[in-house]
Amino acid sequence: MDYKGKVISKVMLTSNVFQLTIKVNGKIDYKIGQFVNLYCPNKILPRPISIAGGDGEYLTFLIKIVGEGTRYLGGLARGDEVKLVGPLGKGFTVEGTGNKKVAIVGGGIGIAPLLPLTGVKFKEVKYYFGFKEKAYALENIAKEYPLTVTLDKDGQNIVDIFAKDLERESFDFVYFCGPQIMLKKLQNILLKKGIKGELSTEAKMACGVGGCLVCTCATVDGYKRVCKDGPVFSVGEVVFDD
Ligand SMILES: Cc1cc2nc3c(=O)[nH]c(=O)nc-3n(C[C@H](O)[C@H](O)[C@H](O)COP(=O)(O)OP(=O)(O)OC[C@H]3O[C@@H](n4cnc5c(N)ncnc54)[C@H](O)[C@@H]3O)c2cc1C
Ligand code: FES
Repeated sequence: MDYKGKVISKVMLTSNVFQLTIKVNGKIDYKIGQFVNLYCPNKILPRPISIAGGDGEYLTFLIKIVGEGTRYLGGLARGDEVKLVGPLGKGFTVEGTGNKKVAIVGGGIGIAPLLPLTGVKFKEVKYYFGFKEKAYALENIAKEYPLTVTLDKDGQNIVDIFAKDLERESFDFVYFCGPQIMLKKLQNILLKKGIKGELSTEAKMACGVGGCLVCTCATVDGYKRVCKDGPVFSVGEVVFDD
């Protein structure tokens, strides 16, 4: 569904990552892990961006500037209008998780779709977030939950730290999102340990609604559309490149 949004705030969190909050002309009833297509007037195709929080009337996004589209979004200011379509894609499974011990593992801007999981009640939850140089958007999590943070610049890697913890404790379910290399590594670890989970993957997109097949990824059941069949897939489903 198409919406118009008005920018409520834009806050730079690092030199190239910002938090954007918009008020929508309606209410987007989203599932955690879903995304919207944000239109950038300087680009024909909209940019897929995960919903990182908000009640549906207000939505928060965490955006990393990597090219012209995200640079345009980074130039938005309070009161500016944006066009968006959503909610899109398949979100995380959060039903029936109240009795589960859960780990949430994120890398860089990949923490964005994981942040709304703070609103879900688990038996126990631990967060593991890794960043290149500087951590961001962690204030609420750090206050309420066990959180391990690594920085690449210190020679640390969040998947290695999590794998070490897995040697002495187990989890029932793991939610994760980050660079492809991280997804592949963590998926392999979880498959070996027999731990269930879901990951959110990325692909370059065009239509964002399942019509053009630009975003397909290899899975054990053949090629699937990341925008429609994903971006959330079960552990073991996605076949990552070597
Ligand atoms: C489901 C989904 C959710 C996303 N959520 C977020 C989010 O919450 N926050 C955020 O900052 N970004 C997110 N992204 C990535 C974001 O859509 C791209 O960074 C953005 O479209 C780039 O647009 P651009 O015009 O700035 O850069 P472009 O000029 O289009 O690209 C700049 C560089 O980024 C690479 N790139 C572009 N799109 C992708 C992609 N989808 N995956 C990997 N590399 C890409 C290009 O190959 C190029 O090297 C998400 C992507 C998907 C598919
Ligand atoms: S972007 Fe068109 S099918 Fe996914």
